[in-house]
Amino acid sequence: MVDRPIEEIVCCMGQPVAGNPTQFIMERAFNAAGLDWRYLTLEVPPENLSGALAGMRAMGFRGGNFTIPHKVAVIEHLDDLSEAARLMGAVNCVNQKDGQLIGENTDGKGFVQSLKKIVDPSGLKVAMFGAGGAARAVSVELGLSGVSEIIVINRTESRGQNLVDLLNNDVGIKSSLVIQDGEVEIDDDVNVVLNATSIGLGDADAQVPVVVETLSENMVVADVVFNPPQTWLLRQAAERGCTCLDGLGMLVNQAVIGFQIWTGVDPDPAVMREALEEYLEI
Ligand SMILES: NC(=O)c1ccc[n+]([C@@H]2O[C@H](COP(=O)([O-])OP(=O)(O)OC[C@H]3O[C@@H](n4cnc5c(N)ncnc54)[C@H](OP(=O)(O)O)[C@@H]3O)[C@@H](O)[C@H]2O)c1
Repeated sequence: MVDRPIEEIVCCMGQPVAGNPTQFIMERAFNAAGLDWRYLTLEVPPENLSGALAGMRAMGFRGGNFTIPHKVAVIEHLDDLSEAARLMGAVNCVNQKDGQLIGENTDGKGFVQSLKKIVDPSGLKVAMFGAGGAARAVSVELGLSGVSEIIVINRTESRGQNLVDLLNNDVGIKSSLVIQDGEVEIDDDVNVVLNATSIGLGDADAQVPVVVETLSENMVVADVVFNPPQTWLLRQAAERGCTCLDGLGMLVNQAVIGFQIWTGVDPDPAVMREALEEYLEI
């Protein structure tokens, strides 16, 4: 018998999960790094999450990504959480260490790494549309990286206020809520405008409710939506001379961080970006 170790397994669990590019990106990066690992994309309905986690433990998976609708629900099945995941109350990446499943959240870190390539976040004033999972992840990491203030703009007051309270009380960052009812004006002294809603996902013409004339060329305008990457918001912002940041960088960066957490190896981000663009046919 040939003496070869079995392959290490990581996975993505979600529903619906077809069309998720992570397997394609990770397997390219495993190959490029010379790692004999496999990444499985698994359709797991909420009622099977508990069993799926038990299976992960029983079969010795090295970790996994968790996406809609499992980012919050997975927490009760884990042994511990990172500080960021605890603050956000959401997990998108699980690492198995000595049989323990540890929850992390790499979404916000991925965004902040992308932003840092353009500007140092410390001291910046941010206006952010959205208060869902992505918005929570990004705003907590922005807070931890030293921005001065985050204005949360959200349609549903309770969700927005919940995030503002988290930022003020637990992250220690100045934050206030604008309830979005119609188009919102952005103040002159805002440095970063961010769409962290799902507006634009799968629809390049979907309009973020912003008064476009209040975007100015000294602002960075960012979108977490990566498919399609050239969203309506980014096209408007580019026309007004703003510096634009699409959601592809965030996606690649969070994959880089997950890869490092599981394998202890630094992947090649260029390989991952190329794979993502190939998968999305852009
Ligand atoms: N680039 C990346 O790596 C990356 C990573 C993670 C997520 N994402 C993207 O982030 C987006 C948000 O995901 P999520 O997990 O945060 O979703 P979510 O938890 O469902 O939150 C959605 C947010 O969008 C708001 N929203 C949705 N439709 C709206 C509309 N028509 N008008 C005003 N507000 C609206 C919701 O407001 P209410 O509270 O009022 O409902 C909520 O704040 C998705 O497009 C996802 O693909 C990207």
